[in-house]
Amino acid sequence: MGDVARAVNIAELRRMARARLPRVVFDYLDGGAEDERTLRDNVAAFRRWQFRPRHGEATGAFDLSTKVMGQNLAWPMLAAPIGYSGLMHRDGERGMGRAAAKADIAYVMSTISGTAMEEVAATGVPLFLQIYLLGGREAGEATLARAREAGVKGLFLTVDTAVAGLRERDLRNGLVQLMGRDIAAKLPYLPDVLAHPRWVFDYLMGARMTHLPNVIVPGKGPLPLTDVASALARSLVTWEDLAWIRAQWKGPIAVKGVLTGEDARRAVDGGADAVVVSNHGGRQLDGVAASLDALPEIVQAVGRDCDVLMDGGIRRGGDIAKALALGACAVLVGRAGAYGLAAGGEAGARRAFAILGADLMRTLALLGRPSAALLDGSCLQRRD
Ligand SMILES: Cc1cc2nc3c(=O)[nH]c(=O)nc-3n(C[C@H](O)[C@H](O)[C@H](O)COP(=O)(O)O)c2cc1C
Repeated sequence: MGDVARAVNIAELRRMARARLPRVVFDYLDGGAEDERTLRDNVAAFRRWQFRPRHGEATGAFDLSTKVMGQNLAWPMLAAPIGYSGLMHRDGERGMGRAAAKADIAYVMSTISGTAMEEVAATGVPLFLQIYLLGGREAGEATLARAREAGVKGLFLTVDTAVAGLRERDLRNGLVQLMGRDIAAKLPYLPDVLAHPRWVFDYLMGARMTHLPNVIVPGKGPLPLTDVASALARSLVTWEDLAWIRAQWKGPIAVKGVLTGEDARRAVDGGADAVVVSNHGGRQLDGVAASLDALPEIVQAVGRDCDVLMDGGIRRGGDIAKALALGACAVLVGRAGAYGLAAGGEAGARRAFAILGADLMRTLALLGRPSAALLDGSCLQRRD
């Protein structure tokens, strides 16, 4: 893992991930919906803001701690839910949990995970669980009971996945065929996979995701991976589901995937403790606003009533500083951590979080605001 330890930025971890993974897996991780306009704009939006540093003041002790959904966090970042993390590296969700624990950040684990939540909780990471109601409410009820038992700190209810976005790279690479049951349908897509024997070996040595251990369908057992795509297509999470989950779950709930003040207000009125301003990393509806651009409207609508988090496009610690300055209390880090995991397992994810953390500290020192609480609109100016 010497390579990942030497990576100086997230772009280098991304290059390492691209070299290690079959194209079908790398594109699943890296790609977005349709023309990928929102995917690119998520990153570009951060470049539309410039810093306004204040100099000459002794900066004193750093304080990056924050409180998110009642939980004290050392850093204003959480590892975002990434479905199929076991494809990135055999360390999978356990590796991501250990990396996050060592980096002293929290982890929001995806429903679409190949590892039981209890095993990830055992890494000691402050663990949140992302919810898709795959398998319906009965399966959901059992998941919530287990989450309570496992000490999960809160739920992230993803509401932007009425259907899967059109990810053209995945169509081209045969992702669905490769994950399906039909052997003949896989054949045209196998050469790409077999051209990466080290990844194949690693995958076979790992947990080899076959089922989702956190979605137990009553009378049937864990949901088979081959049924996930069709289950996802039937599992839109509605405002009624929020009310239902609110009645079941006493701990904090975040609604993830909010892009308008109206939906943010609806989430808060429905009992959410937090909203995540997110377009799913540009993977769902192409052509929506970059998350950073949508953030001010939502802060204005509900910023006094709940925690506002954001995700999308975070590739540098300076990006985190800009999101906080525009009113987010913390960010979710998606691809940045996943590129690390894909490049070198737990060590790679850890390297990604270390890079972002060091970046953020340096940015705050250079800005003359050593504490996350000191970041506000006066730190930024719009670039024309
Ligand atoms: C490969 C991949 C898988 C994802 N899987 C999920 C998921 O299972 N549930 C979910 O709520 N969001 C999922 N997301 C969205 C992320 O949680 C997050 O919103 C997004 O990655 C943030 O953008 P960024 O990657 O630019 O940081 C996924 C994103 C990627 C890249």
